[in-house]
Amino acid sequence: MASAQERLLLLSLLIFFMISAASSHGAIYKPPLVPSLTDRFNRVAVNQGYSEFFGHSNIRLLNNGSNADLILNKSSGSGLVSRNKYHHGFFNAAIKLPSGFTSGVVIAFYLSNADLFPHNHDEIDIELLGHEKRRDWVLQTNIYGNGSVHTGREEKLYLWFDPTQEFHQYSILWNSHHIVFLVDNVPVREFAYNSAISGVYPSKPMSVYATIWDASEWATHGGKYPVNYQYAPYVVSLGEMEMEGCVWQQPKDSSSSAAASCSRSGLSSFDPVEGEEFAKLSQEQINGLEWARKKLMFYSYCKDTSRYKVLPPECKPS
Ligand SMILES: *[C@@H]1O[C@H](CO)[C@@H](O)[C@H](O)[C@H]1NC(C)=O
Ligand SMILES: *[C@@H]1O[C@H](CO)[C@@H](O)[C@H](O)[C@H]1NC(C)=O
Ligand SMILES: *[C@@H]1O[C@H](CO)[C@@H](O)[C@H](O)[C@H]1NC(C)=O
Repeated sequence: MASAQERLLLLSLLIFFMISAASSHGAIYKPPLVPSLTDRFNRVAVNQGYSEFFGHSNIRLLNNGSNADLILNKSSGSGLVSRNKYHHGFFNAAIKLPSGFTSGVVIAFYLSNADLFPHNHDEIDIELLGHEKRRDWVLQTNIYGNGSVHTGREEKLYLWFDPTQEFHQYSILWNSHHIVFLVDNVPVREFAYNSAISGVYPSKPMSVYATIWDASEWATHGGKYPVNYQYAPYVVSLGEMEMEGCVWQQPKDSSSSAAASCSRSGLSSFDPVEGEEFAKLSQEQINGLEWARKKLMFYSYCKDTSRYKVLPPECKPS
């Protein structure tokens, strides 16, 4: 028979564990309802839309090529690159992240043209960072335009679900009005075009990439928490790829501008995300955006006054 004191101790321990279980992973949060963009566009099989970027032996095509697993082990990471280049569009991947200890592991789903424009490239990044301090994956977004690599525009947030249990949708919408990052169709960041940032707004055709790599040096405060290969292989699963955009045709005459040679893609008679309804977020999407940023964002370059004495022009004072 336990004494009253022992029972009290047991009860407080129980309550303590219940509270800590509920507050990890932020799984208690439920986003507001938002319209689905991912249902609007066609899915492309991985082996139709993408080819190998690096790490041949660590790429596994599944389900007749519609899905793929990308693997990181001590020998190599791996990656895919889209067969086409796009000038604007909607890009989606359903992603299931590796579970367990993942410090230093980075999964990136991004657009870039560093191959074509090494000195003034554009880039739009979704990066999923393995465990930093908490045992949670972190979603980082970033944008570079026309070689603006000296100005990092990172934002970081926690997810409202455990991304290792099921597939979730990670998307980028990019047109001449704005760049929107979405998770399960909830906008988590909007980068709006305006004339003050026209020089750093991504505006040249880009390829789409999906990669897994060892970012021990880059992502973990100079190698403080490197990848631990005792827990390898790290496997990220991809599917439900969407790449609906303006497909870029390599100009025959190299003096013509890249943007001018963007052709109409597929059956659409116009850039599928350039129309009125993609130019602005709807009220429901704005509600989702505000919800995600208020509840889950923990870093924005726009608040980082120790890094930027003068904040970049798009940062509004708050
Ligand atoms: C990594 O995996 C590949 C196959 O996916 C294998 O050939 C290679 O030996 C592995 N490397 C290590 C260090 O386990
Ligand atoms: C597998 O994919 C090919 C195209 O890559 C398609 O023609 C074929 O019908 C698919 N098979 C099945 C069983 O889905
Ligand atoms: C991008 O950079 C190139 C070379 O650095 C420059 O010539 C061009 O004017 C820039 N474009 C914009 C839109 O600022």
